[in-house]
Amino acid sequence: MTKMVKAGVFDSGVGGLSVVKSILKEGIFKEIIYYGDTARVPYGPKDKNTITRYALEALEFFKNFDIDILIIACNSVSAFAIEELRKVASFPVVGVIEPGAIALRNNIKNKDAKILITGTKATINSKRYKKILENFGYRNLLQVATPLFVPLVEEDIFEGKVVDSVMEHYFNGIGNIDALILGCTHFPLLEKEYKKFFGKIALIHSGDAIVEYLKNSFHCKKSFQNTKISYYATENPDHLKDVAKKWL
Ligand code: DGL
Repeated sequence: MTKMVKAGVFDSGVGGLSVVKSILKEGIFKEIIYYGDTARVPYGPKDKNTITRYALEALEFFKNFDIDILIIACNSVSAFAIEELRKVASFPVVGVIEPGAIALRNNIKNKDAKILITGTKATINSKRYKKILENFGYRNLLQVATPLFVPLVEEDIFEGKVVDSVMEHYFNGIGNIDALILGCTHFPLLEKEYKKFFGKIALIHSGDAIVEYLKNSFHCKKSFQNTKISYYATENPDHLKDVAKKWL
């Protein structure tokens, strides 16, 4: 297997930085090329054809770099376009949904645990998490599309009254849960607020999940201390760099 040194990371916007954060914590790549399609975010309300077309365009972009692996740090793209990308890519392409479902299985042994799957409309409508988790034997699954969190994060609003009201809007009446899948890479930036709302539950985070998956399936190891990151965006790359500076 090729040694994984240089990774491409793709998201519709700034959300994929939550995946970069997990990668940096574990030091598994020497270099990262980050590409956010900020001109066209959000992807979540778009249909499969559009998301696939945008993802294939991103793949063209990554052909300019000699990457060893492409990480789709976007659940919406992972839900709809991963097979198409794999058909044409000359390097491995990994999405975040399967790793997220595996992370949940590793964390929650009780098959009757109440598990809330959140994500964009694309991710929730695809039922990808639900199907994998049902195959794993989980019986108590709830799905809620929570798309309003995406523009909040893109606007740098990670806590406070507005986030609290959106939490209320989506989750009022859900009751106690045992685990929550943050099925959108924008959501971990709101982690503090999720914890405030739900208390002590297992939070499944796409970034941590994919790092675990890369270690197990691609023999990635903690080897690099100062990962070099280059940022590219289809619009306003300075904003992306600012968020990265604050968040990473
Ligand atoms: N961060 C993305 C995801 O994981 C996409 C959010 C969006 O563009 O709607 O689904």
